Amino acid sequence: MSIDQLAETAQAMVAPGKGIIAIDESTATIKKRFDGVGIECTEENRRAYREMLLTTPKLGDYISGAILYDETLRQSTKAGVPFTKVMMDAGILPGIKVDMGAKPLAGFPGELVTEGLDGLRDRLKEYGRLGARFAKWRAVITIGEDMPSGTCIDANCHALARYAALCQEAGIVPMVEPEVLMDGDHDIDTCYEITEVTLRSLFGALYEHNILLEGTILKASMVVSGKDCPEQAGIEEVAELTLRCLKSAVPATLPGIVFLSGGQSDEHATAHLNAMNQMGAKPWPLSFSYGRAMQSAALKLWSKDMAGNVKSAQDTVFARARDNGLAAMGQWKKG
Ligand code: 13P
Repeated sequence: MSIDQLAETAQAMVAPGKGIIAIDESTATIKKRFDGVGIECTEENRRAYREMLLTTPKLGDYISGAILYDETLRQSTKAGVPFTKVMMDAGILPGIKVDMGAKPLAGFPGELVTEGLDGLRDRLKEYGRLGARFAKWRAVITIGEDMPSGTCIDANCHALARYAALCQEAGIVPMVEPEVLMDGDHDIDTCYEITEVTLRSLFGALYEHNILLEGTILKASMVVSGKDCPEQAGIEEVAELTLRCLKSAVPATLPGIVFLSGGQSDEHATAHLNAMNQMGAKPWPLSFSYGRAMQSAALKLWSKDMAGNVKSAQDTVFARARDNGLAAMGQWKKG
C-alpha cells in the first residue's frame, strides 16, 4: 500500500457531506445497549441488528465508512452476503476497532490506559485481508480531582502512536481517538484545557513515531461542559471553543477530523457539528463518527418488533445519517 493510497482512503472517509457510523461496540458494550431495550445479547441478534443497520437503503449517500467489531467484520447477511461486500457495494469503507479496551492504569487509581498492542501487527494483516481499510483505537481520558495525570495522557498517546504506526505499515488508515469523557461536574473551560493538553501530547507522539498525518484521521471529543456541571454551555459556545481548541493543537496537514457523540443527545450532536461548520474557513473538514447519536433511535424502534420493524428502523438510521451529513456541510436546519 502506497502513501498515496493511505491518503486517498483518509480523504474518502471525510468526503464532503459524509461521515462515519460507529457500530463497533464490543460484546460487553452492545449487551448494555441491548439490555436497555430488552433484547437478548445472542450472536444472532447482534448479527441481525448490524444487518439492519448496514443494509439501510442509500446509506452510502451520507456514510463514507462504518467501524465494525471483530465479530461483525466476519459476519454475513441472512442471505449469506458478507457484510464487507454489502458495504463496498454501497460505497461504505469497512473499518475495524482494534484496541482491546481501556483498563485501569496501575499506580493511578481511577485512570485508564487502552491495551491491545501485543499481536496487533498480525491482527492488522488479517483485518486487511478481510477488507478493513481503516482502524480505530480509543483512549479514554477522565476528568476528576487531580485527574487526568500527565502520565495517563502520555501513556495513552504513546499507545495511540504505536498503533497508528502499525496500521500504516499494514496499509490501513489509523483513526486516532483520544476521548475526553463528559462525565463529571467540571466546567467547559476545564474540558478545553484537558482536551488541548491531550491533543498536543497526541500529535507530539505521532510526530515522534513518524506517522504520516496525511494518512491519519482524528476522532475527537467536543469541548463541552461536564454532564453534571450546573452551568451547561450552549451550542455556539461549544462550537466556538471546540474549533479554537482544535486549531491550536491539530496540524493543518491532517485530512480530516470526525467527532464522537460521547453521550450527547442526537440533536446536540448534530447541532454542534452544524454550528462548527457554519463558522467559516477551517484547515480540515469536520464530520462525524457517531455511535449512539446515529443508532439510539433506530435501536429503540427495532427492539419493539425486530424483523417487523426493519424498515422503520432503517428510515431512522437514514434520517440520522442525512441530518449529520448536512451538518458536516453546515447545511442542517432544526426540524
Ligand atoms: P459514541 O458516538 O456513542 O460516543 O461512540 C463513538 C465511538 O466510536 C466511541 O469510541
